[in-house]
Amino acid sequence: MSKPLHIINGPNLNLLGTREPDVYGTTTLADIEAMCAARADTHGLTTLCLQSNDEGEMVNFIQAARTEASGLIINAGAYSHTSVAILDALQAVQVPIIEVHLSNIFAREEFRHHSYVSGVAAGVICGLGAQGYEMAIDALAARLA
Ligand code: DQA
Repeated sequence: MSKPLHIINGPNLNLLGTREPDVYGTTTLADIEAMCAARADTHGLTTLCLQSNDEGEMVNFIQAARTEASGLIINAGAYSHTSVAILDALQAVQVPIIEVHLSNIFAREEFRHHSYVSGVAAGVICGLGAQGYEMAIDALAARLA
């Protein structure tokens, strides 16, 4: 049995479904996590999910991925654009990392165009809504096969 894929969702993503549905859609985070588990299962993989509004808690979960995960999917929310601490934690991770954003961050405000996560990610998926997470799982599964 391989180690689970760790899936991290950052600040305010607990509000998905009701938060700015015109930008982020109406799919809830629980729906996304269930979709991810089902998609991983088709590849014989499992998932372990964390949502946190707390930067330090996210850093701790990323550190755990060093030894406990086979791959990492991260939507760091607004911390994508601000957090050197999350970048430093990700740089210590050896397993493949895929960055996901529900919205197309490049079609939005300028301050969203830069992500500290992107430089350490094997790939970046944005603008495809919840489907982006399934694509990230497929990409990790292909890398791990
Ligand atoms: C987001 C994009 C970020 O700019 C924003 O702060 C979020 C969500 C997305 O999934 O589109 O919280 O990461």
